[in-house]
Amino acid sequence: MADKISVLYSEEEVNARIRELGEQISRDYEGKTVHLIGILKGATFFICELAKRITVPVTLDFMSVSSYGDATESSGIVKINKDLDEPLDDRNVIVVEDIVDTGNTLSYLLDNIQKRGSKSVKLCALLDKPERRIKDVKVDYTGFVIPDAFVVGYGLDYAQKYRNLPYIGIVEVDG
Ligand code: IMP
Ligand code: MG
Repeated sequence: MADKISVLYSEEEVNARIRELGEQISRDYEGKTVHLIGILKGATFFICELAKRITVPVTLDFMSVSSYGDATESSGIVKINKDLDEPLDDRNVIVVEDIVDTGNTLSYLLDNIQKRGSKSVKLCALLDKPERRIKDVKVDYTGFVIPDAFVVGYGLDYAQKYRNLPYIGIVEVDG
């Protein structure tokens, strides 16, 4: 049987919020170039929409990480599957992630990226689930703060499915 998915934020609401984030980042980085680092695969839909709404020059790079754990819970042990293509010297980095949940992944990643000699490192997450936090992670730009529920769509998956939904929905897993 199919999983039941109820809409939490419609495509229009998500895009409107990303537009605002783009405007805010453009103001904050006036006169500078922003280096966006997207975390694959979840952040891909978000980073595309966000980058289009930023009016200062933008460069892009991507990292792919996996966190050991089951489908819905990360463990804190993070493996880099694909590293950045370019060094970070003197760049104004914004790490773009789909969601900060326990904070395990981002706490490791930010620490790793901060050691690479960029000018600054900030974090932009489409979604933040603060109730679930285990590791302290400061989100500089947040799309939406959401309650403790498992969400899919707009890049977020459940067992690799539903990333392509154009909205963010809460999934009630069957069985
Ligand atoms: P954290 O390390 O617990 O903060 O989890 C980060 C990763 O877990 C995210 O990048 C997502 O891939 C995944 N994740 C956490 N919560 C959700 C959710 O509600 N839906 C889909 N993926 C999630
Ligand atoms: Mg992810």
